[in-house]
Amino acid sequence: MPRKKKAPSSVDTKDNVVKKRAKKFSRLRGVKDILFDEYKYWDLVLRKASDLAKAYGFKRIDTPVLENLGLYERSTGKATDIVTKEMYAFQDRNGDKIALRPEATPGLVRSYIEHGMFNLPQPVKMFWVGSCFRHDRPQSGRYRQFHQFDLEIFGEENPVADTLLILIAYNFFRELQIETQVQINSIGCNDCRAEYAEKLIEFYKERGKRTKLCIDCKKRLLKNPLRLLDCKEKECVEVREDAPQIIDYICEDCKDHFIKVLEYLDELDVPYSLNPYMVRGLDYYNRTVFEFWSIEDEDNQRAQSSLGGGGRYDNLVEIMGGRETPACGFGLGIERTVLKIKEKNIPIKKEDDNIIFIAQLGDQARRKAFILFEELRKSGYNVRQLFTKDNLKAQLEEANRVDASFTLIMGQKEIMDETILLRDMESGIQEIVDYKKISSEIEKRISNGGK
Ligand code: HAM
Repeated sequence: MPRKKKAPSSVDTKDNVVKKRAKKFSRLRGVKDILFDEYKYWDLVLRKASDLAKAYGFKRIDTPVLENLGLYERSTGKATDIVTKEMYAFQDRNGDKIALRPEATPGLVRSYIEHGMFNLPQPVKMFWVGSCFRHDRPQSGRYRQFHQFDLEIFGEENPVADTLLILIAYNFFRELQIETQVQINSIGCNDCRAEYAEKLIEFYKERGKRTKLCIDCKKRLLKNPLRLLDCKEKECVEVREDAPQIIDYICEDCKDHFIKVLEYLDELDVPYSLNPYMVRGLDYYNRTVFEFWSIEDEDNQRAQSSLGGGGRYDNLVEIMGGRETPACGFGLGIERTVLKIKEKNIPIKKEDDNIIFIAQLGDQARRKAFILFEELRKSGYNVRQLFTKDNLKAQLEEANRVDASFTLIMGQKEIMDETILLRDMESGIQEIVDYKKISSEIEKRISNGGK
């Protein structure tokens, strides 16, 4: 039997040609849209970050997303995972080698040098919030575009600076009700670290140990033996158990500096865990290094769960072409912080109090309500509206959705009488008030305990 021919999908029954829908785009793997409901968490976290930074005397700075590729090769480190495996690097139309910023610190160091900030009174304390890009394998809490809150202190060698940073990060998480613990270590200075690195190579070269290491660690052994200590592979973790510990090799100055940081933390009641295996995956650190782990992740020791990390980098400014300038800083992950708040169902305080919704019925009322809206907004009231809708029910639903305390309703009758209906959204009680007395009537209700 001959098959019935199917009408082509682009033609409707009246033989009119129907437009084919264009193919949709999806977002790239490992990146996210931050939608409306998500933003309440972001607002909370970003506000906390900037309030704390300002309270401790840090000034905001921003740097470009695009920088010279060489900036990261020389600072973050040519052999680091970030530079070799994760960086978005490309040649632009002029053939210049460019990178999307994988971390903030190198750009901030460049900016400090480029703008001659060593001429400012030292220390220079800066805070930064922005997006970073790393082409890693995406998973929960690990994205290819993510955001950091970053603090840096330039021109201060005193261990008080290290402690101040740790204290701010500790307060940041505690005040957001996220329980964290500071993992802390000292990796000494260039001189004492060299001796330790030799000891470590000797240790790993002992019979049977090297064969147990993961492929990456086998490669890293001679180039960067310290990185073997924070490898998360099971076999490497087992081998490192008897490894010599850096704290036994650091020089007197580094030891003294580290002890002072710990003493200050003790005095400030900031709990910490000494972690001899933590070395951090970036090349520029010396002396104090630290990470913030969420309490429940501490046992898992999952690197991807660190909420923040940082440390001292006393040589970096000079390496990048500036003067000798001691410095230290940290970066906290905004997405990971937001995830923790959501995971733990931490209640978010309502942001706006005493919201006044203005509803209208009819075209003339809409015009007048518009004017009232502008007047109240300019006087500092928290007003909302839905002037695109005519229907009162839809407007009251919106008033409920935005959690309004009061709704002012204006219709034809109210315009004639020069009044307005004031509805208490909690009790549902409506009163007619004189149009000229709106502000004082609202004030009266707010001071009587409106939300
Ligand atoms: P980092 O440890 O590479 O340090 O990153 C800091 C924080 O950024 C991490 O603890 C984590 O919360 C977040 N983070 C890192 N990678 C991702 C990712 N792929 N997805 C989501 N979040 C991520 C630095 O970047 C240093 N610049 C910190 C610093 C500042 N040291 C001194 N000053």
